[in-house]
Amino acid sequence: MKKMQLAVFVSGGGSNLQAIIDAASSGKLDLDIALVLSNNANAYGLERARNSGIPTAVVNSKDFDSREEFIRAFLGTLEAHDVDFIALAGYLRKIPPELIQRFDGRIVNIHPGALPEFGGKGMFGIHVHEAVIESGRDNTAVTVHFVTEEYDEGAVIAVREVPVLPDDTPETLQARVLEVEHALYPEVLQSLAEKLRSQ
Ligand code: GAR
Repeated sequence: MKKMQLAVFVSGGGSNLQAIIDAASSGKLDLDIALVLSNNANAYGLERARNSGIPTAVVNSKDFDSREEFIRAFLGTLEAHDVDFIALAGYLRKIPPELIQRFDGRIVNIHPGALPEFGGKGMFGIHVHEAVIESGRDNTAVTVHFVTEEYDEGAVIAVREVPVLPDDTPETLQARVLEVEHALYPEVLQSLAEKLRSQ
């Protein structure tokens, strides 16, 4: 049966993308990374993809004269690479409703905090860890969830708790959380790929 044709969307460094690439090349993750797409031509994640021979694309609404052209190009790029599932990995743009409709139930995101408490607009990357430390809580989480039209509101697929240590800074916490992300995301994608194949 056909393997999942995964597109990974990145805006920045792409360490989660690297974890997915590594899991796929070691055989832990049985899917094809069909495309790495970014809104940002300078995202280091694109370089990681190129280093592994994975096709890349940059799609940014600013490069189009109209929203219609942007959406057409976005959907066309995914179609051209036969994409059937999308994993957001530090992708910091809102997904247009047209994509959510086309890939209904087939877009997932990883979030470096507990939802809904540490989610929503403006809650991404280091801002999440700053808010967690500010809250005084002694634990945080990594959450993988389906993507809907609202930020961080889709059904949760998996949560893994991470301790907050008394002397943590946002940066040390971020590093500990990222390690958990790198283990969890490939695991969740593998179970989704198995499920998709058995449908
Ligand atoms: C990751 O921590 C990811 O969970 C987070 O951005 C970072 C990207 O790192 N995503 C969000 O905050 C989404 N709301 P990476 O580019 O090294 O994978």
